[in-house]
Amino acid sequence: MTQSHPRISKAVIPAAGLGTRFLPATKATPKEMLPVVDKPAIQYVVEEAVSAGLDDVLMVTGRNKRPLEDHFDRNYELESALQKKGDAGRLAKVQESSDLATMHYVRQGDPKGLGHAVLCAAPHVGHEPFAVLLGDDLIDPRDPLLKRMVEVQEQHGGSVIALMEVAPEQIHLYGCAAVDPTADSDVVKVHDLVEKPAAADAPSNYAIIGRYVLDPHIFDILRKTEPGRGGEIQLTDALQQLAADEKVGGPVHGVVFKGRRYDTGDRGDYLRAIVRLACEREDLGPDFRTWLRSYVAEEM
Ligand code: G1P
Repeated sequence: MTQSHPRISKAVIPAAGLGTRFLPATKATPKEMLPVVDKPAIQYVVEEAVSAGLDDVLMVTGRNKRPLEDHFDRNYELESALQKKGDAGRLAKVQESSDLATMHYVRQGDPKGLGHAVLCAAPHVGHEPFAVLLGDDLIDPRDPLLKRMVEVQEQHGGSVIALMEVAPEQIHLYGCAAVDPTADSDVVKVHDLVEKPAAADAPSNYAIIGRYVLDPHIFDILRKTEPGRGGEIQLTDALQQLAADEKVGGPVHGVVFKGRRYDTGDRGDYLRAIVRLACEREDLGPDFRTWLRSYVAEEM
């Protein structure tokens, strides 16, 4: 690896959102802590970063997010109670999240948008490329995406975003990319980006899903990015500038993801994620599938 392509080791996870779609569950509990089977959603995201080789994790949090810090910290009281009981299995589960990565936290203060949340990471990240993982997107661990994005960044430099083809009536929920093919079938060159366009104005059906590997020049751009869609500072708008002017921190490539992704920020998808992951678990799956089959048969 050359000096211009330092190894990527830092992941940034914006987690300051209010989680209003899950009220009242999220009145006193951060949405990131809602369980997907028996693990908080956020732990899957941190595990994904670690399995892509990124074990320095910065969470951008806000008020009422203390449980996130506690979850990734030691809990000596619980550990010693489990030790006394000789419950090694549960003790390992408790220790797993605190041993996972080196965790750092910064508060966003004013929730001024995703671009602003990423900018809060600038002092920690410095001048290296880094990853951003959005907590609402859960990528199935069997379909590694971030690892591929890191590879593509090391090959091309600049920034890399994750893209997924969606139905035209869905595109208004996402950032959308205009792309050209490259020699690799899963990689495209991004030449334009627009945040949440109406279906009629969308340049393609390639939606940005919540994984990014970013060139640190993004911070200079974010500092100057005016509020965009929804009055918020949009990461998509800053990336659009990187894509438009390759001389400053470009180019922008996209990795086209065809694997399993769950949007745990949406209640229906959240339930589907739990059912699918529970079915596939060795410990819970066999019983749960049997029950599910008879439940579905009764309902039809
Ligand atoms: C954010 C981004 C959007 C992206 C989406 C992926 O939007 O602004 O470009 O497509 O995440 O989940 P949000 O869903 O936070 O409104």
